[in-house]
Amino acid sequence: MAGKVNVCDHPLIQDKLAALRDKHTRPQEFRHLMEETAFLMTYEVLRGVRTRKTMVQTPLRSASAEFVAQPVAAVAVLRAGLGLLAGLTRVVPEARIGHIGLYRNEETLNPVRYYVRLPKDIGECFTVLCDPMLATGGSAVEAIHILKTDGARQIVLMSLLAARSGIKRIQEAHPDVSIFVAAIDPILNKSGYIVPGLGDAGDRLFAT
Ligand code: PRP
Ligand code: URA
Repeated sequence: MAGKVNVCDHPLIQDKLAALRDKHTRPQEFRHLMEETAFLMTYEVLRGVRTRKTMVQTPLRSASAEFVAQPVAAVAVLRAGLGLLAGLTRVVPEARIGHIGLYRNEETLNPVRYYVRLPKDIGECFTVLCDPMLATGGSAVEAIHILKTDGARQIVLMSLLAARSGIKRIQEAHPDVSIFVAAIDPILNKSGYIVPGLGDAGDRLFAT
């Protein structure tokens, strides 16, 4: 069965996405908006984290309670995935952080790997792969392959925007991975950009 696609359509998230799409939004604001969007999305993205049921004593009596019982790993696909990390780590400051360096070859659109550094205990972690743009899906499929090769067993993808073709490609290659996005856009243009999209996320984030 294909991994679930979750569209985080809360009005607060959609409000920030609208400003992220706007071509007049400057890099400083774009960075802040991406952090805020990730902060809001993290609640849904981490819904599947393992918990432990227990009892606590309130000042009045004992109460059943639930704690998060699994470490969280946040892995950014460089460069643009870095923009999502700050929001996630505000919610989970103790998260382990990993980095996967990939860029798309401009002609073939195939991902080219240039850096990988992942948390040692990733096999135990609830792993959130952070990449704001899911276009052809090539980068995310490769990043998930890298995570699994390193031992990750429970992986979800947090993106801002996805094209249907990218979602399909992940569902075919990694049906166990659930996808969380703020919106799904209809098409890719000839250069592999999501349309209407928000442009080049890395360039807008880092003013390059
Ligand atoms: C962007 C984006 C994704 C990738 C998505 O990265 O951040 O990683 O493209 O495209 P795909 O689904 O077709 O693979 P890019 O290659 O532009 O690198 P950058 O973040 O360093 O600019
Ligand atoms: N990468 C981006 O940054 N934007 C797109 O629309 C597609 C890939």
